[in-house]
Amino acid sequence: MSTNSRGQWSSRVGFILAASGSAIGLGNIVFFSANAYKFGGGAFYLPYFIALFVIGIPVMILEFGLGHFTRRAFPESLHRLAGKKGEFVGWWALMNSSFITLYYITILGWVVGMLVGALGGLWKDAFPTPNFAVDSLPNPYGYFFHMLSTWRPLLFVALVWFLNGVIVRKGVATIEAAVKVFVPLMWLFMIVLIVRGVTLPGGVHGVWLLFTPDFDVMKNPAVWQGAFSQIFFTLTLGFGVMTAYASYLPKNSDQTNNAILTSLMNCGFEYIAGLAVFSILFAFAMVPQASTLAMMFFIVPKGIAQLPGGSPAVIGFGIVFFVLLLLAGLSSSVSLVEGLTCSLIDKFRVPRMRAITIFCVLGFLGSSLFTLPYVVNPGIQNDGTLGLTLLDLTDHWAFSYGLLIVGLLETLLIGWVYGVRRIRDDVNAYSRLRLGAWYDVLVRFVIPGLILFILIYAVVGEFTGGLYGTSFAPNFAEGWRWMAGSPWVVLFLWLAVSVGLAALFTHLGGYPPHRPGELEGGES
Ligand code: TRP
Repeated sequence: MSTNSRGQWSSRVGFILAASGSAIGLGNIVFFSANAYKFGGGAFYLPYFIALFVIGIPVMILEFGLGHFTRRAFPESLHRLAGKKGEFVGWWALMNSSFITLYYITILGWVVGMLVGALGGLWKDAFPTPNFAVDSLPNPYGYFFHMLSTWRPLLFVALVWFLNGVIVRKGVATIEAAVKVFVPLMWLFMIVLIVRGVTLPGGVHGVWLLFTPDFDVMKNPAVWQGAFSQIFFTLTLGFGVMTAYASYLPKNSDQTNNAILTSLMNCGFEYIAGLAVFSILFAFAMVPQASTLAMMFFIVPKGIAQLPGGSPAVIGFGIVFFVLLLLAGLSSSVSLVEGLTCSLIDKFRVPRMRAITIFCVLGFLGSSLFTLPYVVNPGIQNDGTLGLTLLDLTDHWAFSYGLLIVGLLETLLIGWVYGVRRIRDDVNAYSRLRLGAWYDVLVRFVIPGLILFILIYAVVGEFTGGLYGTSFAPNFAEGWRWMAGSPWVVLFLWLAVSVGLAALFTHLGGYPPHRPGELEGGES
């Protein structure tokens, strides 16, 4: 199959929009603010920026560089570099990020539900439900949990999967068309929210939270794990998708520059989103919450509900906020749908529409698990419904561990098995900014070393402090006590399914042999 039949971005702008669209997502708008708050505001920044420059940008250059070098999606790229074991890592990355995508899309389904609510219901009197005492609670809170305890989100989740399928149906061509509209709109909506936030009386106080460093917290490795995972997630690294995106670029592309531009745009967006979120919260003296979902679904909406200007302002800004989340989330999730579809097409020669349809249908079934409305914890403390509990547990493994493990494996494979020098030479041949030998040291020693340290620290914590999630058990309602074993079940399923499928895909079929020296030749 020739390179061109895989499609190509029509312009560099198209690629940058798509890559930054993938990077900018829910992670930027709410997860970042919630993490920053959790780790003490300004205290999060130093680890975050160190992670950006020492790990984020170099790994992005690596993932773009791989796509540039091999002109193939992640599993086949790694296959060419490191044989079957490389390919396995590639598929495992895609399987792990598929888990993330399943619940990411469920969250987007809830965003659709909130968007519908933003037209009115969200701000009206709380919904009284038999399970929750919501009467005394702020409206978005009641609305959100009421919605979660119904089957309605299933419909929204189906819609989001359908939109994903539509956007990737013709690959880069349709993705490019979508991101050309989505990404500029995201920036516009974000700016609207910031201007509103910082011009509120007292709004700027929130901004100071983001600038006041606290060096003590930095001694805590948990802060570093938070910063590292956030950098991987927000830059879409370790997902196995940036390589596919870069493989659709012409050979003479400057990947170092592309990686720096994409990363800085992403983190710039994240930073200004923090300004918007914190200024709105501080203006109304609200306490931000460390829980990302709380931030997105009831803390920020509660702030919006208090904006001056009456219901037109509330409804208007509510719509802006939830449309922003939806656009940002869609332009992220499509990158995984495309990254996986492209990998399946390259290896198994399945027709594109069939691959997309199967994936979207299976994806819908998987995402449905996270919408299960049964109330397992009437206290609504962290995990009200069965779906939420499963989401929380899956997120813990796929997000906090999975992405870092992929980062570790990919740097080890390229650094030690294939030789990072060859990728660096290839990237340098087309780049204005040349990477020196320091880059090899980063990829071979510094990045894997840092990730390994964090992973070991975290795993030891699971053993000494109890497996993540076991502390929820006492909160489960009568009849749901058996859920106490769920942390183990979810850990087992995540590992078994992702490793099993990755091994299956690696084992089945084979890639057409490539000519020796083909990689180094560089087709244009
Ligand atoms: N970078 C995205 C964010 O910050 C996350 C993301 C990118 C993602 N691609 C994805 C999540 C695909 C799920 C599926 O939100």
